[in-house]
Amino acid sequence: MSQIPIILYPSKILRQKSISIKEFHTKELDILVKNMSDTLLESKGAGLAAPQIGKNIQLIAINTKEGIVTLFNPIIIKKSWKKNIDEEGCLSVPGIFGLVKRSNAIIVKAQDIDGKKTTLNANGLISRVLQHEIDHLNGILFIDRVLKITQGEENIKKFLKT
Ligand code: CO
Repeated sequence: MSQIPIILYPSKILRQKSISIKEFHTKELDILVKNMSDTLLESKGAGLAAPQIGKNIQLIAINTKEGIVTLFNPIIIKKSWKKNIDEEGCLSVPGIFGLVKRSNAIIVKAQDIDGKKTTLNANGLISRVLQHEIDHLNGILFIDRVLKITQGEENIKKFLKT
């Protein structure tokens, strides 16, 4: 298992837009995918986006019951009108949790590890995690969308001083 240190807020890397992946199965990309999966498993997070390990490329990994799912160039093509509010945290914003409103269900277009196009229908927790991770690819953090901080208000003040 090779774990990679997580990039922490307020790093500028987390604020950049990620570029799309055009070449699949390059040596570098395959290693990155493996390291991202390992890092996500080790950290016990719900999901991880490539910028969080210092790469501004459109790659995310999510932790599902069936194991780690990696998505390349994911985009949300449809969002349900119905939304729900739930608590979120982020490995890049440790010690802070807050309520975020997200669409109940989404449809995501992406490519798999071989570059094959796929469409996913997601709802429930997976829908929330996907929206959070895809936000990362656009330089958006959950604290930008937070309605109310539920834990770690003192930590956010510490961050803002830096
Ligand atoms: Co996050």
